Amino acid sequence: MLPYDLIILGAGAAGLMAAAHQRSRKVLILEHNSRPGAKIAISGGGRCNITNQNLSSSYYLGDPKFVEKVLNRFDNEALIAFLRHHGLEPVVRKECQYFCPDRAQALTDLLLRAAPSVEISYETEIFGAQKPGELFVVETSKGEVYAKKLLIATGGLSYSSVGATGIGYEIAESFGHGIVPLRPALVGLTLQPEQVWMKELSGLSLSVTVQVGRRLLEGDILFAHRGVSGPVLLDASLYWNQGKITVDFLPGRRFKSLFGSSAKTAASQIPLPKRFVKAFFSALALPNIPYRSMREGQKQRLSLLKSYAFAPAGTFGYAKAEVTKGGVATDEIDPETMQSRLVDGLYFAGEVVDVTGRLGGYNFQWAFSSAVVAAKSV
Ligand code: FDA
Repeated sequence: MLPYDLIILGAGAAGLMAAAHQRSRKVLILEHNSRPGAKIAISGGGRCNITNQNLSSSYYLGDPKFVEKVLNRFDNEALIAFLRHHGLEPVVRKECQYFCPDRAQALTDLLLRAAPSVEISYETEIFGAQKPGELFVVETSKGEVYAKKLLIATGGLSYSSVGATGIGYEIAESFGHGIVPLRPALVGLTLQPEQVWMKELSGLSLSVTVQVGRRLLEGDILFAHRGVSGPVLLDASLYWNQGKITVDFLPGRRFKSLFGSSAKTAASQIPLPKRFVKAFFSALALPNIPYRSMREGQKQRLSLLKSYAFAPAGTFGYAKAEVTKGGVATDEIDPETMQSRLVDGLYFAGEVVDVTGRLGGYNFQWAFSSAVVAAKSV
């Protein structure tokens, strides 16, 4: 069998976008699902949050210089222009996030239309790849296939229910690439027994500020049966590995100014849902008396409403994580081409690389930018 000019591993966001931008004659995509774009279909509540009006490396975990170089070559404006050119007009929701106007399937259909001559082999499990000579040899459930160039776009470990596997990392490692430790990210955090009071608030959502390391993040926390979640906690999970995170339950308010010298109880003066205040008071053994009557230690415990520090026990895991942080180390990839610095003709794109974005369309933008850079230099 004649070798392919390019084999793309994975028909997800990055693989399909690369197929739509490459110029090779004979191209094959290998995909073990029976359909392409499984994560596109379930993302953004079925409408796929494609990108964001505010784009910069500061929204990513990864080497900022590397990220910036790749994003600059195919940024949010270039992405939107590409989508419009192919008949999809994204809509802006939540102020700055671009979504598909209707079903996310429209995006996958568009990418397939933009790559008409590319062959896709579905229901084909990828087992590994080698380069014993001039050509890459990819081992699959349907036998070996050969290519002059190979693009790894197999994504991360999150959501194995829709096809995620670690094959991309395994292949990269087998070629000598370093893998930055993998962890679930954009995921809820589980709690230690001392924070069980938060679990009791399951279903409640509050606007808070969260500090994790040196990062200060604003948004909604959602108390869940398993722990804490909601947009701000999902973003915090990107920067959290271990240790404490600190929550300000009263962002924008000065603590002392809440409590006058009146006879009203401290609890009744806190502008938070009663259910929350009751649980907080009980967890911190605070009496429901006026603030002025509290002992110094009680006042100090109450002030934790502004800086409640706790060490999460862990995360909800890969089954619930939107993405996988870590991945193929970027110091071994050329950001001008997304080509391996170790193996000629080997390229990477998407989540398999050690670049992870915050919520808001940043991960699809990364998948698309890195895919276009790779495809154009293949
Ligand atoms: P992607 O996972 O899309 O594609 C990899 C492909 O490789 C898959 O088709 C997979 O089946 C295939 N594959 C893997 N192993 C294989 C093997 N061994 N053999 C054959 N094929 C194999 N991001 C964002 O920016 N906005 C959003 O709204 C959301 N929403 C969202 C919701 C949910 C529920 C999840 C799980 C994730 C998101 N994301 C997101 C993240 C986003 O989906 C993700 O970052 C991109 O899909 C990554 O694109 P890739 O092409 O790198 O991987």
